[in-house]
Amino acid sequence: MSNYHIKHLEEYWQVYRKSVRNPESFWEEIAEEHFLWRKKWDNVLSWDFSKPEVKWFEGAKLNITENCIDRHLATRADKTAILFEHNDPSKEAEHISYKELHRRVCKMANVLKAKGINKGDRVCIYLPMIPELAITVLACARIGAVHSVVFAGFSATALATRINDCDCKMIICSDGSYRGKKTIDLKHIVDEALTKCEGIDTSLVVKHTGAEVTMQEGRDEWLAPLYEEASETCKATIVDAEDPLFILYTSGSTGKPKGMVHTTAGYMVYTAYSFKNVFQYREDDIYWCTADIGWITGHSYIVYGPLANGATTVMFEGVPSYPDFGRFWEIVEKHKITQFYTAPTAIRALAKENLDFVESHDLSSLKVLGTVGEPINEEAWHWYNDNVGKKNSPIVDTWWQTETGGIMISPIPYSTPTIPTFATLPLPGIQPALMDENGKEIKGNQVEGRLCIKFPWPSMARSIYGNHNRYRDTYFSAYKDMYFTGDGARRDAVGYYRITGRVDDVIIVSGHNLGTAPIEDAINEHPAVAESAIVGFPHDIKGNALYGYITLKESGENRNQDNLRKEINQLITDRIGPIAKLDKIQFTAGLPKTRSGKIMRRILRKIASKDTSNLGDTSTLLNPEVVEQIMEEAL
Ligand code: PRX
Repeated sequence: MSNYHIKHLEEYWQVYRKSVRNPESFWEEIAEEHFLWRKKWDNVLSWDFSKPEVKWFEGAKLNITENCIDRHLATRADKTAILFEHNDPSKEAEHISYKELHRRVCKMANVLKAKGINKGDRVCIYLPMIPELAITVLACARIGAVHSVVFAGFSATALATRINDCDCKMIICSDGSYRGKKTIDLKHIVDEALTKCEGIDTSLVVKHTGAEVTMQEGRDEWLAPLYEEASETCKATIVDAEDPLFILYTSGSTGKPKGMVHTTAGYMVYTAYSFKNVFQYREDDIYWCTADIGWITGHSYIVYGPLANGATTVMFEGVPSYPDFGRFWEIVEKHKITQFYTAPTAIRALAKENLDFVESHDLSSLKVLGTVGEPINEEAWHWYNDNVGKKNSPIVDTWWQTETGGIMISPIPYSTPTIPTFATLPLPGIQPALMDENGKEIKGNQVEGRLCIKFPWPSMARSIYGNHNRYRDTYFSAYKDMYFTGDGARRDAVGYYRITGRVDDVIIVSGHNLGTAPIEDAINEHPAVAESAIVGFPHDIKGNALYGYITLKESGENRNQDNLRKEINQLITDRIGPIAKLDKIQFTAGLPKTRSGKIMRRILRKIASKDTSNLGDTSTLLNPEVVEQIMEEAL
């Protein structure tokens, strides 16, 4: 029996039981058989969740790019590794073979080295979804540098915060990016960010849109001439299993973004293994994940997981609505996509459009459909299943997080029965637990609680960059010896999991995690604002949208409210990015607070959702009269 590729439900259970009975030997067998090691490990796993400290494959030496590229050259040199689909549909797609990917990654790695990047240095990557993004990520890994990709939709302030938090020495960006009909001048955003980033010595610029840019002497350089000159061979730097591979930021409910640190060997083994199983990947498949590499989904399931399996992975630069709402389906037909992985928010947006956009394309190549990022509602699930999958392609509703590095709970297609809105069963090696509010595990089925994981898995983040205590406090202190996910979940009568959503102050808008605190901080910078509270409320397409309750200082009370709303949203766009803009803003005389001064968000959430029939206990409020007033004035 191969643990590596599960093909039916009975086999899943056998493999799962084995993985739980003896996790070390389970992962060791997979690591032995499917990867290239320069030196094998001395110890498979050591862990202590109280510190917390987790080490997988300690003592092993490797380079992840040798696993994702070099070792495929003997058998797959001419196979397409990256299939790049431009924003502009009239441009021919680019097929980058494994051989060509090797050449480009080596060249790029040599550029980084020539510019003084050494093993362990942090490199910020702020690029649109073009091949250079994947190539630069891999080039960092080639020389043991730590990449920190920042999604190219974040604002200058957000970019600067992320650059400074992990002391990046270099940034790789482009002149601009295309998003449908729009072009965005990324270099201007970078220039503004870099006024606040003293640690950046070099900014390499990819010429992409031809936008006019200013180049700062001694700091900014076009990539092309350096790249042209660079040698095509670059020996891979051999790193330790637990050396950091990358940092990726995610929002917390409070404070600044958390730079999750992922290390090398365990991340490689787990992303490769989960990719193979969750997408039932076979050699000639053409796999497409529509995420951006700026998010964890792109890191694990556009770059590392697929390439570690020698797959063809599609990178799409554009948006689902350009040139029309049939773009996704046109691409599926054109490239005969076999696995299609997207977000519920995209499905909801496309489901609103004319069905002709789907039906005019031949989607018969599809074998597996996936979703990720937020709970998928039943209506969207059925639309996806009926119209895209034609009831023939199982939907894998994959639950996981930036912190988990890889998919944790998901059906295995053609094995696990799929049920709308259920992520179903844990992957082998993943041991979920539901906890009650008193810190006790809730056993049995048909129960609901807070979702934790009770045993380490190879791709879990090892720390928060520069703040290990925060890592411990956020994830390992709520429940003893457990990793706490921040999500709630239900386990049904047969043991399938359904994720019910966040139980903290993180709000997921269009699949993006947004912490309330940083948005409130941005709003409170406005001179007319005294105080603010942000909550989520249900939205047809975004899943959740943001509702802001804002109290004004005396000086702001006579201001035009529409202008204020615009200024506040502009501030949020500047500080964080347009994804964090508020859909609704209500100016209020006060905010409901407990006697200890805490804002009662529960009540504000109910009012925002127009669910005011039962506001629950308001007796502990310092100012109950404010609630009545807010309700009366609610938009
Ligand atoms: O609340 C869960 C939700 O997204 C959160 C993680 O967000 P992020 O770190 O940005 O990673 C997203 C991509 C892996 C989780 O805590 N989430 C993710 N997938 C699902 C989900 N909620 C329900 N169902 C899912 N399939």
